[in-house]
Amino acid sequence: MQEQAISEIQAAETLEALQLVKTRYVGKSGLVTKELGTLGKLPPEERKARGAEINVVRAAIQAALDEKEAALKRAALDARLQSEAVDVTLPGLPLPAGGLHPISRVYDDLIGIFTRMGYEVAEGPEVEEEHYNFEALNIPWYHPARELQDTFWLEDGRLLRTHTSNMQIRYMLEHEPPLKMVSRGKVYRFEATDATHEAMFHQLEGLVVGEGISMADLKGTIAEMARGLYGASAKVRFQPSYYPFVEPGADFAVYWDNPRGESKWLELGGCGMVHPNVFKAVDDLREAAGKERVYEGKTGFAFGLGPERIAMLKYGIPDIRYFYANDPRVIGQFRGEL
Ligand code: PHE
Repeated sequence: MQEQAISEIQAAETLEALQLVKTRYVGKSGLVTKELGTLGKLPPEERKARGAEINVVRAAIQAALDEKEAALKRAALDARLQSEAVDVTLPGLPLPAGGLHPISRVYDDLIGIFTRMGYEVAEGPEVEEEHYNFEALNIPWYHPARELQDTFWLEDGRLLRTHTSNMQIRYMLEHEPPLKMVSRGKVYRFEATDATHEAMFHQLEGLVVGEGISMADLKGTIAEMARGLYGASAKVRFQPSYYPFVEPGADFAVYWDNPRGESKWLELGGCGMVHPNVFKAVDDLREAAGKERVYEGKTGFAFGLGPERIAMLKYGIPDIRYFYANDPRVIGQFRGEL
């Protein structure tokens, strides 16, 4: 019986098959167990010797079972490790690549140019108080300039900022001159949309304040920005214009040698020397907040421009609304571009 049992144990190829063999021999009603049950019928003098014999057989079978079970478990583990192994030499799965939005790319270019010139970067709210968007910028309620910038009003009396010039006020409130600041962000105008107008668009605001800052500094700065954007041959042009918060004020354009061949003057934004009323309004706010009046008597310049216009020309995008429609045919073209 021992030999038969051991050869069956060795032949078992799975743990389930081994379990069957185990039951057949050493289970509750297994052959060995039954054999032990017959001991009671033997005459006492034979019982001891026969009992010892059967126990030797049972121990041998149990040892063979244990050994085989361990071997089968090891084999199963090996097989699992094998099947779950990761082949690090296989090529990876392609990940769908994202990309930076064209407006973000233009902003990154601009911010890079200005931070290299030593400007701080500031950020501020899109939901704004009337005072920061208008009054402090020398635009009282009766001023016709308010109609130039149709405003989204909120029910609580606040508004969606119509320009990033609110950041001139907010920055001067927190910082003392001399200072150089640029601020990027969304602005909102209550306007009908068309190929060149959106109700939401972006601006980059710049502000420099110090002793003896002049129009020449402003022109040099805009020219430096143009060269940063379009290379050493870029030209800039200034035309007198009116913004209540600057005096004198100007619009500026950049002459761009477009690789697609349509070189032209690109109207980029507005600029000018900070109006003394703006410095006074800031000092009033500072005083009300328990801070020192430090702006009256200083000079400075400010500018504001729209990255959409730069991006439209740079990437040949014919309609401003394409930027925000999230049409994959448009934004998909910027995939992988960082
Ligand atoms: N805030 C003006 C606009 O939105 C642009 C501007 C900024 C003009 C700073 C002069 C100085 O049109």
